[in-house]
Amino acid sequence: MCSKIYLLVLLISASTTLSLCEGLYSQLSRHARAASSPPVGQISAKKCEEYSKIVKNNECTQFNPDKPWDYEAKTGEFPHLALLNVKGDNKLFCAGSLISDKFVLTTAVCANGLNKKGNGTFWVRLGENSLQPTASEKPVVLNRYKVIKAYNHPGYGGDKRENDISLLELEKRVQFGELMRPACLNINKEIAEPVFVAGWGITDNIRKRDYTTLLKTVLEISKKNEKPLNLDPESPLFILTKPKSGNKDACTGDSGAPLMTNLKDLPCMFNIVGIVAYGSNCVVHQTASTRISNYIPWIESIVWPGEH
Ligand SMILES: *[C@@H]1O[C@H](CO)[C@@H](O)[C@H](O)[C@H]1NC(C)=O
Repeated sequence: MCSKIYLLVLLISASTTLSLCEGLYSQLSRHARAASSPPVGQISAKKCEEYSKIVKNNECTQFNPDKPWDYEAKTGEFPHLALLNVKGDNKLFCAGSLISDKFVLTTAVCANGLNKKGNGTFWVRLGENSLQPTASEKPVVLNRYKVIKAYNHPGYGGDKRENDISLLELEKRVQFGELMRPACLNINKEIAEPVFVAGWGITDNIRKRDYTTLLKTVLEISKKNEKPLNLDPESPLFILTKPKSGNKDACTGDSGAPLMTNLKDLPCMFNIVGIVAYGSNCVVHQTASTRISNYIPWIESIVWPGEH
């Protein structure tokens, strides 16, 4: 076995010796694996770096959770945030995140709900900070994209709410800029806190919305299995969060919104670690988000099929 491999190796490099046989075998097999399918996350990492070059001279309104911050987001602060609704109007159905020039990431619950309500047609709005843009904001920021296909994860649909993730394909390619820019995907299970969320959802449990602007808050990763969700905090499928300070939490209308971190070595870039999926009684109970790291190969195969 080993000598056969050794011969193969000789064709590549003339400076091999018999004593290196074992080592060369492992090197060769590593090389063979890399040639057929790249390591998990390699494409996502490459795209992330590519997208970071859209930022000119590190000029961005970067959210820094370590410094004092406002509840309301500034225009352009989260350039990947997408607003999802049936007609492309000022209504809110769900949130999502731009992850390429053609795809928006959200939950399968959101995609199914929108498909049903819109009879197979629904819209994504990008580059907006307000649910109700003023007349002066409209020409600059109103960008509506029709969804031509929703790819729900094949494992979604059981009674356990697992694999609640969907990729929405847009009818036209997005022209990136200051207000519309993809976010990166967290390729590792480990999450470097602080984590934060942004969305247009309600601000308390009685279905009230005090703001029309995008809101943001820092959350804490919950390390306990609690009722009523009763989920393993170490599950590869979910991330569990609770409010950290000021009783601000993800709530109804925030489904599909990104749970994210900053990327220290790529200024201005956000790293999506989860997608807000479900919960009960915001602020009081945990929220479950779909853990992105578990779905990287599936996402890459749909969003960047030519890269494999
Ligand atoms: C979907 O179809 C139903 C029944 O035909 C109709 O009442 C409804 O208005 C349609 N919705 C949209 C968004 O077109």
